[in-house]
Amino acid sequence: MQVRLDNVTKEFESKKSKVKAVNDLSLTIKSGTLFGFLGPSGCGKSTTLFMLAGVYPLTEGKLFFDDRDVTDLTPENREVGMVFQNYALYPHLTVRENISFPLVNSKRLTKKLKETAKQQGIPFSKLVENKVLEAANIVEITSYLDRRPAELSGGQQQRVAIARAIVKEPSLLLLDEPLSNLDARLRLQTREEIRRIQRTTRITTVFVTHDQEEALNICDEIAIMKDGILQQTGNPQYIYDNPDNIFVAKFLGSFPINILDASVRDNKLYLAGPAGETPFMDVTLPNGNYNVGIRPENIIESTDGLKVSVLRTVRRGGITTAEAVTDDGQTLNFVLGTATEAKENTVLMLGMKANSCCIFDQNGRKVYQC
Ligand SMILES: Nc1ncnc2c1ncn2[C@@H]1O[C@H](COP(=O)(O)OP(=O)(O)OP(=O)(O)O)[C@@H](O)[C@H]1O
Ligand SMILES: [Mg+2]
Repeated sequence: MQVRLDNVTKEFESKKSKVKAVNDLSLTIKSGTLFGFLGPSGCGKSTTLFMLAGVYPLTEGKLFFDDRDVTDLTPENREVGMVFQNYALYPHLTVRENISFPLVNSKRLTKKLKETAKQQGIPFSKLVENKVLEAANIVEITSYLDRRPAELSGGQQQRVAIARAIVKEPSLLLLDEPLSNLDARLRLQTREEIRRIQRTTRITTVFVTHDQEEALNICDEIAIMKDGILQQTGNPQYIYDNPDNIFVAKFLGSFPINILDASVRDNKLYLAGPAGETPFMDVTLPNGNYNVGIRPENIIESTDGLKVSVLRTVRRGGITTAEAVTDDGQTLNFVLGTATEAKENTVLMLGMKANSCCIFDQNGRKVYQC
């Protein structure tokens, strides 16, 4: 099922102030894909999910599931499964009872299942058990069905919460920071699980996270938000390589992008140093001050590039990065290739790989990509 948000705004009003938690958001989530909402705390991710679920009414705008206008539809009628930020399982119920809970406690679903059971000539309880087993099988927790949540690891509890959401066979699955309570190793494992489950079920899934690496790794498409406003949406790798503004450029990347002061004079870009120094490259831009963004993995040694002094090198896992400083005191981080010999206090000349730098104007908007 395709999901479309048309100029959606959510405003919260308290006694003293109004907060636009989501501000004029328009985007389309393609059917059968895993879509990620990404952004810092408070940017409106959960609010967006709650509007999709029907828990929060929209202040303005429209919401469509395929061609159906669902803006005013109640949560029960939306066929949405949701795993909340604090995926509370019922502690006194077994895993089996937790998963079957929505099937036996929703009037609409129970009625539908009773009809199906009749058609298939099996008891209602048998059909519920079959559905529970099917969901438990997808998330691989069939051996824990008789345990209670307290007897499971965080990752297993997480999978029970997902099973409880998918047992309803929702047309849309909403996951709000589903990995936030897990340790680093389990986070990695569970995010792959979510990817696998989504691929298996092909349920249109919306995944909320503030962890850029998570979003880049498992999502087909992402939307990056800031202060309730959509910054950019599309394929994660494309956005990583082609950020529309400095915020997006900085938000994505395990090694933060380098943002350097620069100026343009007569269609030549000067990265650093006093006037008259060798230009870094030719550009077609009006004279003025700019920022240049270069990702650390795109910086290479080059004989006619920018002169820097290496301050220190840091080894992180299998990757070594160097921190260096330009003649005019700007810091630059780069990933060391195997051929690069960078030691503290050595001087290097640096260039960059082709098509790997962005130029931003003074408002942070990208004006040039090269
Ligand atoms: N019920 C509410 N009443 C008033 N303001 C709210 C309410 N819910 C959220 N907000 C405000 O709306 C903004 C967006 O909140 P939201 O919960 O959507 O952020 P988020 O992106 O999910 O953040 P986090 O990553 O911390 O979960 C915040 O400024 C928040 O304080
Ligand atoms: Mg949230």
